Amino acid sequence: MRHLSVPSSMTQQTIDILRESGWLHTEHRVRPYDDGRILIPLNDNTPSELPSDLANFPIIDANPIPWNSRESWQARFTELAGEGVLENIIVSKTHEILGDLLIQRHDEVNDQYLPAFIQSKMETHPRIRLMLLDHGVKGEFRIRDLQPIAVRTNRLIWGEELEGLESNLLDPTTDVPENGLRLRLNPSRVYFSSKLQYERQNTTKELTQFSVELGRPINICDPFCGVGPAIAPLLRRESLVGDLLVNDLNPDCLPFLFHNLKPLRGLELNFPQDNLVEPTSGIFVGCMDATQIPSIKDQCGRWDALLVNLPHQTLRLLPALLPLLRPEGPMRICGWTIIPESEVIELPDKLSRIVDCNVEDIEVRVRKQFNATDMLAAFIVRR
Ligand SMILES: C[S@@+](CC[C@H](N)C(=O)[O-])C[C@H]1O[C@@H](n2cnc3c(N)ncnc32)[C@H](O)[C@@H]1O
Repeated sequence: MRHLSVPSSMTQQTIDILRESGWLHTEHRVRPYDDGRILIPLNDNTPSELPSDLANFPIIDANPIPWNSRESWQARFTELAGEGVLENIIVSKTHEILGDLLIQRHDEVNDQYLPAFIQSKMETHPRIRLMLLDHGVKGEFRIRDLQPIAVRTNRLIWGEELEGLESNLLDPTTDVPENGLRLRLNPSRVYFSSKLQYERQNTTKELTQFSVELGRPINICDPFCGVGPAIAPLLRRESLVGDLLVNDLNPDCLPFLFHNLKPLRGLELNFPQDNLVEPTSGIFVGCMDATQIPSIKDQCGRWDALLVNLPHQTLRLLPALLPLLRPEGPMRICGWTIIPESEVIELPDKLSRIVDCNVEDIEVRVRKQFNATDMLAAFIVRR
């Protein structure tokens, strides 16, 4: 393959010129040669006669060295975009990996470097199938607005070439490994956050302990269940879950829920509006507004544990959900709420008024800063 042989002091500026001219071969390495000079790989578009600023450098034939995927994406990015760009210009560098997806937050400043982001991240993450830009959350279900920007088939495809592809190649449905499970989901259709993995471990611990205390399986109600990440690990524990209610208003959650919860796998998905179905004995499934579930008489007073995970509205909706719990005897509520930092201290009092229990029965853990003023707090009410 043709390489341009340059003195090392001229390497970066020559790479910049070649990149601008569209002659840099980006899939192969820039590397030192035996004579101490640097070899820059040229692509097929490079003319045999180079313009005057490059004409003094000899073009030589040498074996190309493919980019090594074990290198860091940052090193590769710098090779593609130039020294100092990553450090001085790029605002959001990080990405999230969900199964075989790589999700990069959109930032206008980064737009002109998207080709370098795509190549550096896709080449150094060979298991990633699809790379997407995240334009933020949208709609009542707070689902991410994701734009596919590169896909790996038998080769890497991006830019204008994406337009002619069959849509199934750009489908972001993926299997996300979590705590020994694989959760199937499409993050552009349903809510899912892998950052809450630790919360789900805590829920499993809490409810396992609760079941031990009661000496029997517990009846668990998750009215904002999403694709079932909180329930799937509970179902793996022997004799932990008795009856179960899983519900989510977003109909796109249901096919994934039926895949992720083992007892529902392969069962028929058929939902009357504003009601629950019982596709298998003791498991109730719904696609309705959670606050309407207590209007179904049979559901009131039957649940030992209630999960309340709609953090922007948890405190407002909690009173409407309380009739679902057993009226007497032990119960647990595991909830998450987003509240101003200044109000965290009052949260136990507030909850004790809503649930009508002692403050000592409430545990509050501040989980993380949600935005400039608000915190995400997890709470457990134990009675
Ligand atoms: C923060 S997510 C939690 C999902 C899941 N529990 C998890 O841990 O990933 C909240 C879920 O509530 C659903 N949702 C929003 N409003 C609802 C309502 N009024 N009734 C039932 N589900 C609702 C959303 O579709 C979303 O899946």
